[in-house]
Amino acid sequence: MLSRILGALSLLLAASRVAADASSYHINAICTCDQLMRWYNWTSGVWQDYWWESANMMSGLASLSMLDSNYNGTYFDVYANTFLVAGHTFGYQNFQDEYYDDEGWWANAWLDVYDLCQNPSYLEMAISLFNDIHASWPTVCGGGVYWRKSRDYIASIANELYIHLAAGLANRVPSDQKQTYLDAATAGWDWFWNSGVVTSDYFIVDGVNQTTCQPTGSIYTYNQGVILGAAVELYKATGNSTYLDLAGKIADAVTTPNSTLTSASGILEDGCDRQDDCSGDGEQFKGPFIKNLGKLQLVRNSDQWLNFITTNAQSIWNHDLNITNNACFVGDYWAGPYEPADASSQSVGLDALVAAYAVTK
Ligand SMILES: *[C@@H]1O[C@H](CO)[C@@H](O)[C@H](O)[C@H]1NC(C)=O
Ligand SMILES: *[C@@H]1O[C@H](CO)[C@@H](O)[C@H](O)[C@H]1NC(C)=O
Ligand SMILES: *[C@@H]1O[C@H](CO)[C@@H](O)[C@H](O)[C@H]1NC(C)=O
Ligand SMILES: *[C@@H]1O[C@H](CO)[C@@H](O)[C@H](O)[C@H]1NC(C)=O
Ligand SMILES: *[C@@H]1O[C@H](CO)[C@@H](O)[C@H](O)[C@H]1NC(C)=O
Ligand SMILES: *[C@@H]1O[C@H](CO)[C@@H](O)[C@H](O)[C@H]1NC(C)=O
Repeated sequence: MLSRILGALSLLLAASRVAADASSYHINAICTCDQLMRWYNWTSGVWQDYWWESANMMSGLASLSMLDSNYNGTYFDVYANTFLVAGHTFGYQNFQDEYYDDEGWWANAWLDVYDLCQNPSYLEMAISLFNDIHASWPTVCGGGVYWRKSRDYIASIANELYIHLAAGLANRVPSDQKQTYLDAATAGWDWFWNSGVVTSDYFIVDGVNQTTCQPTGSIYTYNQGVILGAAVELYKATGNSTYLDLAGKIADAVTTPNSTLTSASGILEDGCDRQDDCSGDGEQFKGPFIKNLGKLQLVRNSDQWLNFITTNAQSIWNHDLNITNNACFVGDYWAGPYEPADASSQSVGLDALVAAYAVTK
């Protein structure tokens, strides 16, 4: 009882100290999360009208709750509601749609929610999505999964999510089922690194052209991120630190100031940030990078990554925030200036604050 009262007190304190300072990552994450929830639609089961992005938003709630036991349980009704209604809102059964990457976002998010709630339905949903994505392996380029069911492109992101999911399942299913998922994850990883999408300086291009089997496309933050989380899951499943060595090279490349995805002052930015034209999709990319960099930092400490995560979380609070009536709105441009937030920019800010909270806790 006492701990419940103390818990309630600390929540009250948190609510009244929204802007205490930029390094109060825990309090700032709670205020950011509270505003994100004001965009949740109980009828549709998603945030505003975002589909795959809502998977990441749901994962953000679960990630905060994992770190703060006062928040375990807070959003159980949200997960249950989304589980029941979100797919139907968009006309899909069991979160299966035309795009394998959408399915991968949802499946990995259900694993995060499963870790928190331990509800087996969420694990089963992730498995059913894995089976649907796995049915597209191998592509005509010697392995990998397609971007979408029309099989006209092989996207890096769909493959990273697939490896992450397979390794994540290997770590969560009963031990007699582990090997199947581990085999899928290692085959996915080996194919990915041989496909040509990873450049010699450890940036990842958008995908592989299924006509030429050659790597193609631009460099985005989310493609640098999901593979880090996949490496952490593979490391946990095998104890093989080679996965972390390779992930570390990608993380080092991105977190170097004045590089392909990072400003001279060390702030993460996609091409669309630099051109000031991120849409809902592009707005969402930075979140998976910083979230997964945080996971890597927790298993392999690097001062450069730690500094990067906290620098970005502080920049959000100092330059990319609008506090109105004690509600914290986070815009898309982490270096500022603030531009009006929506659920997508908000959830990406939450990912950064939760990552900073996790690595400094
Ligand atoms: C919530 O979702 C329902 C069902 O999709 C929709 O009809 C309604 O307009 C949404 N509400 C808001 C505030 O967007
Ligand atoms: C959260 O609460 C659920 C239900 O009470 C419990 O099963 C689970 O272990 C808790 N999760 C964490 C991370 O403490
Ligand atoms: C793939 O390569 C072929 C042959 O060069 C080209 O015609 C096609 O436009 C490419 N597809 C994509 C999606 O880039
Ligand atoms: C560890 O993983 C790497 C990358 O897949 C592989 O080349 C190596 O053989 C593995 N090491 C062991 C001891 O299994
Ligand atoms: C950033 O890098 C470019 C070369 O890529 C260089 O010309 C420029 O001076 C650098 N800026 C800073 C602030 O280091
Ligand atoms: C902050 O948000 C409020 C409410 O949406 C808005 O009225 C105000 O103009 C915003 N301030 C800035 C600096 O954008």
